[in-house]
Amino acid sequence: MTNTIDRRTLLRLAGASAGTAVLAGATLTGAAPAGAAGGAFRHGVASGDPLPDGVLLWTRLTPTDEAQPGSGVGPEAEVTWQVAADPDFATVVAQGALTTGPARDHTVKVAVTGLAPATTWWYRFGYAGAWSATGRTMTAPPADADIDRLRLGVVSCANWEAGYFSAYRNLADRGEVNLVVHLGDYLYEYGTGEFDAGGSVVRPVLPAHEVLTLADYRIRHALYKTDPDLQALHASVPWVITWDDHEVANDQWSGGAENHTPATEGAFAARVAAARQAYAEWMPVRTGADGAIYRRLRFGRLAELSMLDLRSYRSQQASGSAVDDPARTITGDAQMSWLKSGLAASTARWKLVGNPVMIARVDLATLPAWLLGPIGRLLGVPENGVVLNPDQWDGYNADRNELVDHLRATGTRDIVFLTGDIHTSWANEVTTRATGTATPAAVEFVVPSVTSDNVNDFLGLREGNALSVLGADLLRATNTHVRWTELDGHGYGVLEVTRQQCRMDWYHLADRTRPGSASRWVAGWSVAAGSSTLRREAAPQA
Ligand SMILES: [Fe+2]
Repeated sequence: MTNTIDRRTLLRLAGASAGTAVLAGATLTGAAPAGAAGGAFRHGVASGDPLPDGVLLWTRLTPTDEAQPGSGVGPEAEVTWQVAADPDFATVVAQGALTTGPARDHTVKVAVTGLAPATTWWYRFGYAGAWSATGRTMTAPPADADIDRLRLGVVSCANWEAGYFSAYRNLADRGEVNLVVHLGDYLYEYGTGEFDAGGSVVRPVLPAHEVLTLADYRIRHALYKTDPDLQALHASVPWVITWDDHEVANDQWSGGAENHTPATEGAFAARVAAARQAYAEWMPVRTGADGAIYRRLRFGRLAELSMLDLRSYRSQQASGSAVDDPARTITGDAQMSWLKSGLAASTARWKLVGNPVMIARVDLATLPAWLLGPIGRLLGVPENGVVLNPDQWDGYNADRNELVDHLRATGTRDIVFLTGDIHTSWANEVTTRATGTATPAAVEFVVPSVTSDNVNDFLGLREGNALSVLGADLLRATNTHVRWTELDGHGYGVLEVTRQQCRMDWYHLADRTRPGSASRWVAGWSVAAGSSTLRREAAPQA
């Protein structure tokens, strides 16, 4: 990295002044002017989980100066909402009102129903005579509709302190995706300086300390929701999201986390409850009666999307032969049954799986020490040559075998895993040691981080340096089912689904530390219907 002390100081100051502006907007005395910048709806608007007859709408009201996120105070207040067939709201098709207050951190979630399917809608919220920004969303096609094409923006791992969310802005500006799939690490739990841009804080987080309590998680969610690029993408298309570990704490499992110390931070269950409550309040996501987030959405006959929760039910990470122990699980029994039966019984052409951590095997046995260091930091393995990452499916081999064996036994095809978590870009064929690499059961497209550090950041080198390129070559040489990987870029993916094929294109940013950074196409890979073998695309999709 070329950062000097002066540059770091400059970046910290720039970040601090931006944060100060946010705080100043939030500390106006009396009722903030609704609809104005920094007004009653300063955290933006969002939509999510589109169904054929409805969609979830979200915002957060700041009715008074005292009603700060995480404060637990402020008045109960009535918010109105409207859904229209046009951006000028000449034809309002649904509207209503509801009361929010400090018990839910003044967040607002509306499950709108009764809408026509496969339609673009505009929505807004009202308070004290003024309107929020206008959001655009859509309803899903009917379950039996023959649709030609679906385009998804695919993202994961957005670390505030590592840079700006230009990946979100670029996706919003493309104006071509039907929805965004977020695979987790929407936010990070760390205190300032604990995880940043290769040792530099581009912009500091709030609160400054690691988030632990309900108030902490609410404040961190609120900070993210002030980001203009994030607001733009939320307002432009519905999102379908799941969580990974950092929505609670690093390397979370069902009973704890690497980044949680009960002796000093209290019971892990209390932390999970706080994080989950803030998540349910602040994110445009439907949760089950029991708080479950794994769920399935359908887009006509073309595609179904199964979103997984690989943190709430998993066994503790292990190493050595324990990774093969069939008593250990990454999904939990109920979710595995739901996933297996849902995929096998699906009548959709493509079965997409929103998969927070990588399912393809990664054998690091022959990698040299210089690459094992940075790769190991991403994958969570020690540098002494352990050959797998116990935090992804590699650490839960019995579950992976059970799922892949089931897909093969039932003749279930056209499975595409959409994956995040490891901050790098991959096109994989999904195999098991038993089946070998000749007959993959599925494919996996892994998107890079929006901002979080990856290999060149850990090495302290520029993107595309010779060591990273050699590392990618070595990974592919030792894992022939890995058809392509790139270890340095940050950005996003665009998945195009048609009846004939499913195709991912990767776009990487010029500079994550600069606001407004452009992105460029770096690769495209596709799989034809009925096949599980990847093909490289020569040019960006039209
Ligand atoms: Fe991450």
